[in-house]
Amino acid sequence: MIDFWRFILSVFAVLGGQWGDEGKGKVVDFLSEKADIVARFSGGNNAGHTVINDKGEFKLHLVPSGIFWPNIKVVIGNGTVVDPDGLLQEIDALTEAGIDLRGRLVVSDRAHIVMPYHRALDVLSEKAKGDNAIGTTGKGIGPAYTDKVARIGIRLGDLFQKELLASRLKEVLKYHNAIIENVYGSEPVSFEDILEKCKLWADRLTEYIGSVEHIVFDAITENKNVLIEGAQGALLDLDHGTYPYVTSSHPTIGGACTGLGILHDQIDVVLGVFKAYSTRVGSGPFVTELHGGVGDEIRNLANEFGTTTGRPRRVGWFDSVAARYSARVNGYTSLLLTRLDVLDGFDSIKVCTYYELDGKKVTDFPGNASLLERCKPVYEDVPGWDLPTAGATNISQLPKEALRYIKMIEELVGKPIDIISTGPHRTETIVVRDIVRF
Ligand code: GDP
Ligand code: IMO
Ligand code: MG
Repeated sequence: MIDFWRFILSVFAVLGGQWGDEGKGKVVDFLSEKADIVARFSGGNNAGHTVINDKGEFKLHLVPSGIFWPNIKVVIGNGTVVDPDGLLQEIDALTEAGIDLRGRLVVSDRAHIVMPYHRALDVLSEKAKGDNAIGTTGKGIGPAYTDKVARIGIRLGDLFQKELLASRLKEVLKYHNAIIENVYGSEPVSFEDILEKCKLWADRLTEYIGSVEHIVFDAITENKNVLIEGAQGALLDLDHGTYPYVTSSHPTIGGACTGLGILHDQIDVVLGVFKAYSTRVGSGPFVTELHGGVGDEIRNLANEFGTTTGRPRRVGWFDSVAARYSARVNGYTSLLLTRLDVLDGFDSIKVCTYYELDGKKVTDFPGNASLLERCKPVYEDVPGWDLPTAGATNISQLPKEALRYIKMIEELVGKPIDIISTGPHRTETIVVRDIVRF
C-alpha cells in the first residue's frame, strides 16, 4: 500500500486548505506510518482532529495525530499555545486508551501557556462584541497570543522558575483583572489559585517539556522523516485569512517555519488538505455557503458539527477561487481531497469557478472581508454519481463522474490531487500517485 514512501524526502507539511476541519487528523494518522516525528506548530486546543483507526475513535486537540503508530515521537512546537489542563486531560484519556505518551511526547518550553484568565477574556470579549462576535471556540487562544505579542505571556519553561513566575503572574494579573472587572464587570481571577495550578502543571508536565526546536532540527539534519501537522486552515490565518474572522495564529506554511524553528528550504513537500465541499465554523464571509436545503442535507449526512465545540458547521460548495488563493499562500506541492463519499448520491454538484462583485468577474480572493461578503458565487454544474465512493481504496473503484469532479478541481486549483479520502477510517484512503514529485 505505501511504497510511495520510498520517494519521501525528509520533511512534509500537511496543511488545512480551507477554514479548518478538512480531515487533517485522519490524513495525518494515515500518512505518519513511516514518520519519525509528527509535529504541531500553531494554534492550541481550539483544534479538534478526529482519528479513527484500529485502536478506536479519538478527538485530539493538542497531541499530534501521529501518536497511534508505535515508535513515533510527537512534538508540540514553540508556535503553539498550550492549555495545560487541556493537555493533561488529553494525556490521561490517551493513557487510559492504552496509548502511552511517556518518552514520546515533547512540548516546547517556549510554547505559551493558555491561562484561565485567557479563557475568561475570550468568552467575555466575544459576549461584549454581540452581533459582531467572531464565533471563537472560547478556548482562550486569541488572548493567549495577544499576551505573547504584547510580551507579557508566560511560557511553559517559566513554570520551573518559581520566583520569577510569581512576580510575572502578579504583574500580568493586575493588568488583566483591571480589564475583567472594569471593562467587562466580571469577577477577578485569583492569583493564588493560578499559582497553585502552575505548581501542579510543573509537577505533572515536567517529563514532557523540552527543547522541541533542537529535536526537530537534529532529526532533519539526520534525514529523518518529519511530518508537520497543520491545525486550522489557510483561510483562518491571522494575516492571510478572512480578517478579522480568523484565528490568532499562522496555520500557513510560514507559521510552520517559525512555529518549529525550521528553515524554509528544509520543507520538501507541502500537502494541502481540502474537503470535496466547504465548511466553516463561526462568523465571517463564506461566498459558497448553502442556506437550508442541500446545506442542511450535507450537514446532517456528514455530521458536520464541530469537533471541539459541537457547533453546527456552515456548509457550502467547493470554492475554487478560495482554493487557488490557498494554494498560492501555501505553495502546495499537491492536494489531498477528503470526504468525497459525502457527495455520493447527489444528482448534481456545484463548483464555484469565480465570483461576481458589482457586475464584475473576480478570480482573485479579495483580501477584505467586507468585499468578500458582497461577492456572489458563479457555479459550474457537475453531474453527480450513483455508485458509492465510500470506502474505496483504489482509484479504479471510483465512478467516472467522481473522476471528472476530481479532475475539474485539479484543473481549477492548478495542483494534482495525490490522495483521496473516502471515509473517516484510516484505511478508507486512495493513494493516487506517490506524493513527491521532483
Ligand atoms: P480536522 O480538524 O481537519 O482534523 O478535521 P475534523 O476531525 O475536525 O473533521 C473532519 C471530520 O470528517 C471528522 O469527523 C473525520 O472523522 C471525518 N472524515 C475525515 N475524512 C473523511 C472522509 O473522507 N469521509 C468522511 N465521511 N468523513 C471523513
Ligand atoms: P481544526 O484544527 C475549524 C475558528 C473558530 C472561529 C475562529 C477563531 O480542527 O481544523 P479561535 O478560538 O481560534 O480564536 O476562533 O477560528 N477555528 C476553527 N474552525 N477548525 C479549527 O481547527 C478551528 N480553530 C479555530 O470557529 O471562527
Ligand atoms: Mg477539526
